[in-house]
Amino acid sequence: MPQVELIVHNIGHLVTCASNGGPKRGAAMLDAGIVKDAAVAVREGKIVAVGPENEIAGRFTAADSIDAKGRTVCPGFVDPHTHIVFAGSRIDEFEQKIRGADYLEILEGGGGIISTVRATRESAEDALAAGAIERLDKMLACGTTTCEIKTGYGLDTKTELKMLNAIAKVDRTHPVDIVPTVLAAHAFPPEFVERKDAYVDLICGEILPKAWDWYATSHFRGKGTPIFADVFCEKNAFDLAQSERVLKTAKALWFGLKAHADEFTNLGCTKLAVGMGAASVDHLDAISDEEIALLAASNSVAVVTPPVNFNFGSAHFADARKMIDSGCVVALSTDYNPGSAPCPSQPLAMAVACRYQKLLPAEALNAATINAAYAIGLGEQVGSIEGGKWADMLILETNDFRDTAYEFGGQIVRTVIKKGDVVFGLE
Ligand code: NIG
Ligand code: FE
Repeated sequence: MPQVELIVHNIGHLVTCASNGGPKRGAAMLDAGIVKDAAVAVREGKIVAVGPENEIAGRFTAADSIDAKGRTVCPGFVDPHTHIVFAGSRIDEFEQKIRGADYLEILEGGGGIISTVRATRESAEDALAAGAIERLDKMLACGTTTCEIKTGYGLDTKTELKMLNAIAKVDRTHPVDIVPTVLAAHAFPPEFVERKDAYVDLICGEILPKAWDWYATSHFRGKGTPIFADVFCEKNAFDLAQSERVLKTAKALWFGLKAHADEFTNLGCTKLAVGMGAASVDHLDAISDEEIALLAASNSVAVVTPPVNFNFGSAHFADARKMIDSGCVVALSTDYNPGSAPCPSQPLAMAVACRYQKLLPAEALNAATINAAYAIGLGEQVGSIEGGKWADMLILETNDFRDTAYEFGGQIVRTVIKKGDVVFGLE
């Protein structure tokens, strides 16, 4: 009998989120792909077979085994949109917002993102990596096994590259796999507020080309991880023409594309980004029906970020229900960042999405796993429990996967397995 390194057995419900290639749309998002009384065989960190326990036990011998004790196992969560490399604190801004201050007005007054930029410019690369690793430990305990991280608190060439180096260090030292995104077009730095187009010139003429050169020799490229470029298209941030310049330059350099679109104001960025073949378009709180139809007809993933609305105390959420019903590929993210979403937990994002965006738990789970993986170009490698993918799995403290979205604020994840190794456990 062929030998494998690990068999995870005695799985009451194996929730595979299997998609047989490609992300999930429409009614397919209701299918969590459940196999009862199952086992998973793992070799060299990858899944070699998934099926009923007696079948797997009859096919392989294993050097090691993990007894799931009849509990539910699901894919590790994929968080496709975060800003977890940063320095400083925004806790005072939290109080200002509770007292009624507005996020975009704080930004216009040189606070918000810009206050994080000041602290990040002053911070050493190692300190930035250390801070992100602490945040990633919290995400891992909540079940995240793959995570995108953006730059965007440097806003000059030196600090954007420092952030990329910190992101690379995090990836090399932490079990969670990272996908890097260059978000030099996050805000206008203080030295450019009077000459905004000159900052766009700097992004297009220097920051993006140097970031691409950095990527070309980085370990990310060596292991086949893609890199993305992103833009915050918004009032008091980048207008549509500036966003188009940034995305066109990034595309010509071979970056994958992403956009923060329609978070507060609809400036037409969804149409622009979808038309350019963006991997994802994120936020979408102010998207129009016409743009939902465009997204549904495209391969761009609609990434919604419900912890942001929750954190703003807003009753308005992106209409993810309509997006799913229209056939968009919808993914969920925490948007973990110090200003709009200090939230490490994909289960919390799922819980909010179910209540305020009317997703069903199976839809929320597919949105936080397989569809999120496609949003960051890793849909063929992670996001579901299928042969050939990395063995990234969660043993849950429940025998019903719907508890991942039903319970909130708890610890539904008991054990995290990353590439076949237990990297978090509550035993
Ligand atoms: O995704 N909207 C812009 N960027 C982040 C917030 C970053 C910050 O406030 O520091 C977001 O919400
Ligand atoms: Fe963001």
